[in-house]
Amino acid sequence: MKKILLLNGPNLNRLGKREPHVYGTATLFELEKKMKEAALSEGYGLTAVQSNHEGVLIDLLHQAEDEGIAGIIFNPGAFTHYSYALRDAIAGIEVPVIEVHISNVHRREAFRHHSVLAEVSEGQIVGLGFFGYELALQALIKMHKGDEEVE
Ligand code: DQA
Repeated sequence: MKKILLLNGPNLNRLGKREPHVYGTATLFELEKKMKEAALSEGYGLTAVQSNHEGVLIDLLHQAEDEGIAGIIFNPGAFTHYSYALRDAIAGIEVPVIEVHISNVHRREAFRHHSVLAEVSEGQIVGLGFFGYELALQALIKMHKGDEEVE
């Protein structure tokens, strides 16, 4: 069975407790469960990992390529805004990555308006809460099935 990787970066283990007015009250466990079910209903497996560590996230991106993962849904948290190391890791793999942000980063502090990862990602979904992850899953499956760009 082909697999999708759901990767959540720093502080996202605190979903449900962390600034609920910004990120909602649902937990990471609930998100991961929902995403696994959604992937399975499309005939895909989904592995969900969260890490607060940049190097671990880089290793997971490399591994995803080595394991032939079909696509990566990635919420890189604050690393989005400044991690050139994550940018290089994404640029260095063939696996398509979709960047997801729960909050509308463009409505928030200026430092959140720029993503150093957007240029090397297939697409970016912001501000749609957990639904953004589901949309990213649909897009990756569509890309994988057609083995082509989503038009
Ligand atoms: C976030 C937005 C980032 O700016 C922030 O640092 C996060 C979460 C989001 O999902 O909205 O940790 O990626």
